[in-house]
Amino acid sequence: MKILLFAGSLRKDSLNKKIVRFTDKLLKSNTEVQTIVVDLQTLNIPVYDADIESKGIPEGVMTLAKHVAEAQALIISSPEYNGSMSSPLKNTLDWLSRVKPLPITKKPILMLGASPGALGATRGLAHARQPIETLGNFLYPEPMGFMHADQAFDEVENLKDPAQVSKLQKLVNSFIDYAGKLQ
Ligand SMILES: Cc1cc2nc3c(=O)[nH]c(=O)nc-3n(C[C@H](O)[C@H](O)[C@H](O)COP(=O)(O)O)c2cc1C
Repeated sequence: MKILLFAGSLRKDSLNKKIVRFTDKLLKSNTEVQTIVVDLQTLNIPVYDADIESKGIPEGVMTLAKHVAEAQALIISSPEYNGSMSSPLKNTLDWLSRVKPLPITKKPILMLGASPGALGATRGLAHARQPIETLGNFLYPEPMGFMHADQAFDEVENLKDPAQVSKLQKLVNSFIDYAGKLQ
């Protein structure tokens, strides 16, 4: 199974990119899974503008669309902005929804989210459900939020809390099982 992972944040030191990279490390132990990690910052996706679209969908969107289409499942870790989903994630989903054939539909999707705050981006994860399901995807019913994520990693970017690692590992295993049943 090919799993695509990306963060709904652009910045280099993103906590959500760290969650993505750590989750990717966990996935590496499963020989039946191949992963691809995409950094949205490198894709230079503009803010959605129908005037840009009328001249052609940007190359970065088409690159991501190809990765999404080729993946059997997606894992996205996103911050919340002002109690809702991050603008980079919403913008990315909006652009992907303009690609024909629609790459992001009928995909099993696991949502993770990290924040330095006490809620662990969970309000943003709840709002991300709306566009993901509107596009006809199979959102895994258990998202996982990482609160105080600025304190969560050691110097080699591993999660420090063994209980959190174990919870994430179990979640990822269950998600792979779920995604496998939907193929
Ligand atoms: C526009 C904006 C709004 C934010 N709103 C929230 C919020 O509602 N809840 C929260 O926990 N953190 C909020 N934050 C803080 C982010 O969680 C924090 O910057 C986080 O590190 C962003 O994720 P990243 O590290 O993956 O880039 C906000 C940050 C920005 C830039």
